[in-house]
Amino acid sequence: MQLKKLHYLSGLTISLFIGLHLFNHFISIFGIEQHISLMDNLRLVYRNLLVESILLLAVATQIFSGIKLFLSKRKQAGIFFEKLQLWTGLYLAFFLIIHVSAIMAGRFVLHLDTNIYFGVAGLNTFPFNLFFVPYYSLAILSFFGHIAAIHAQKMKTTILGISIHQQSRIILLLGTTLTLIILYGLTNGFTGIEIPAAYKVMIGG
Ligand code: HEM
Repeated sequence: MQLKKLHYLSGLTISLFIGLHLFNHFISIFGIEQHISLMDNLRLVYRNLLVESILLLAVATQIFSGIKLFLSKRKQAGIFFEKLQLWTGLYLAFFLIIHVSAIMAGRFVLHLDTNIYFGVAGLNTFPFNLFFVPYYSLAILSFFGHIAAIHAQKMKTTILGISIHQQSRIILLLGTTLTLIILYGLTNGFTGIEIPAAYKVMIGG
C-alpha cells in the first residue's frame, strides 16, 4: 500500500480516539469527577485488547509513515498550509512518542491508574508546568492545524460564500478556543488541581 494511503487510514483511526479524548478533557470544565466518570465510560470502548491494539498499531504506523513523509516532502512545501501540515505533523509525532510511552510506563511500570491526576500532575505544578503548558497546548493546536491544512488542500467547495482558506482558518480558531478551554478545565480554572499523594511521584514528590 502507498505510504500516503497508509498514513491517511491510520490518521482516521487515531482521530476517532482523539475526538473522544479531547471531548473527555473538555468535560473537565465541569469538574474532576465528571472527567473521571466519562473516562471510565470511554475506557469500556477503547481499553480492551482489540481496540487498544488497533489504536497502538495505528499510532506506531502514523509516527513511522509521518516521519518518512516529512523527510520526503520537506523541501517541496510552498504555501502556508503545506508548511503547516508538515510541521504540525512532526510535532504530533514527537508528542505521541512521549505521551503514549508515558501512559504505558504509568500503567505497566508505576502501576498507576492513568486518569486525569496522572495526566495533569505536571501541568499543575511549578516548574513542570513551564514544560507541560506548551507541550499539551501545541499538541491540541497541531491536531487542529493538521486538519486545517488537509482541509485547505483537499476541499473544493465554498460554503455560504466562505472560501476554502477561510474555512481552514475557522478550524484553526476552533482549535485555539478548545485549547484554552481544555487548559482552563485541566487546571481547575487556572487555580490549580490538588494532586493526590499516589501521583506525586510524577512531580518528584
Ligand atoms: C490536553 C492534554 C492531554 C492530557 C492531559 C492527556 C492525558 C491522557 C491520559 C491521562 C491518558 C490515559 C487514558 C486512560 O488511561 O484511559 C491518555 C492517553 C492517550 N492520549 Fe492523551 N492527553 C492529552 C492530549 C492528547 C492529544 C492532543 C493526543 C493526540 C494528539 C493524545 C493522545 C493519546 C493517546 C493515543 C493515548 C493512549 C490511549 C491508550 O491506548 O490507552 N492525548 N492521555
